[in-house]
Amino acid sequence: MQRASMKHLIDILRAEHHLESNGYKALLECDDDSVVAYLHEQAREVAQGVFARGIFVRGLVELTNVCRNDCYYCGIRNSNTALERYMLTTEQVLQSCQQGYELGFRTFVLQGGELPRDKAQWLVELVSEIRQRWSDCAITLSLGEWPREVYVALRKAGADRYLLRHESHNAEHYAKLHPAEMSLENRLQCLTWLKELGYQVGTGIMTGSPWQSLDNIVEDIEFIERFKPQMIGLGPFVPQHDTPLGKFATGSAELTCRLYSIFRLMFPNALIPSTTALNTIDVKGRIKGIMAGANVVMPNLSPANVRGNYALYDGKAITNAEAAEGIEQLETQLSTIGYHIDWGRGDHKQCTIHNA
Ligand code: 5AD
Repeated sequence: MQRASMKHLIDILRAEHHLESNGYKALLECDDDSVVAYLHEQAREVAQGVFARGIFVRGLVELTNVCRNDCYYCGIRNSNTALERYMLTTEQVLQSCQQGYELGFRTFVLQGGELPRDKAQWLVELVSEIRQRWSDCAITLSLGEWPREVYVALRKAGADRYLLRHESHNAEHYAKLHPAEMSLENRLQCLTWLKELGYQVGTGIMTGSPWQSLDNIVEDIEFIERFKPQMIGLGPFVPQHDTPLGKFATGSAELTCRLYSIFRLMFPNALIPSTTALNTIDVKGRIKGIMAGANVVMPNLSPANVRGNYALYDGKAITNAEAAEGIEQLETQLSTIGYHIDWGRGDHKQCTIHNA
């Protein structure tokens, strides 16, 4: 397609928040740098129209690397015996939150492997304790698949948001990334329950996961378009050497940023993190993500001695601006591009502020 018609396509996406499948495909395929620059610029303008130049921060607490699941790409998969497993105590989690609160965080993200089902009660009590201690904070969970009643109990205990990437909306592709016990159907069922229960829900994919085609990504975009999540989580696939997919190529930072821009134009109000995985494969990843329309960063509040063990993939950035103590560094980094930290809870705004 000509440069002018590609730019026109981007204008349509910005104005109508929707394209036909071949429009999305054309944006993913485009190899004209000036068109991609235009896409990022449009997305950035839209993000600035909604959030000004504020970036929300979420304090990430990695509860545990124990996992009952066995996803082929993930370093904390159950079959990985090379990993020392840990589980934070309630006290350690609360201390991490306290430290985060003092630093100014008003959202805590409790993330972890999928714990054995008999740990559900512990999770519910933990959420309830955090809710009581820090009533002004949002609680986000990223704890994988559970029966509906567990999601109900966690929501009642005070959880506000839930992150659960669908990973791939193509059942065949999904099956190549996950063991037979897991299914796309169950993943989608969980996402539907979470939404029904009034969570603000996040979903998403890894870009460049093994066997992923551009058509698969178009399917993912169209699923996300229908599902309308409040949060969209996207990071490049990064191989982890002790997993069955450890020899596959790393995903692309460029494609990840392109998707941030496409989703920003589709969903002006969405909360889109510039992810750790992106910053791991590209030293300027975080800034590039923000320049492409992302508006959230999730620094790590976990105790320093366990961070190395939450090894979903190789080379994960665990220090400096990636860690909560590096918040000043983050502020400095953001200020170099004229952005700043927004210390608000950063709930998803229902109203659409239209393009200026
Ligand atoms: N590379 C990049 N992201 C990964 N995740 C798990 N393993 C990897 C990997 N090797 C992502 C998955 C999951 C999230 C918690 O981390 O998308 O949903």
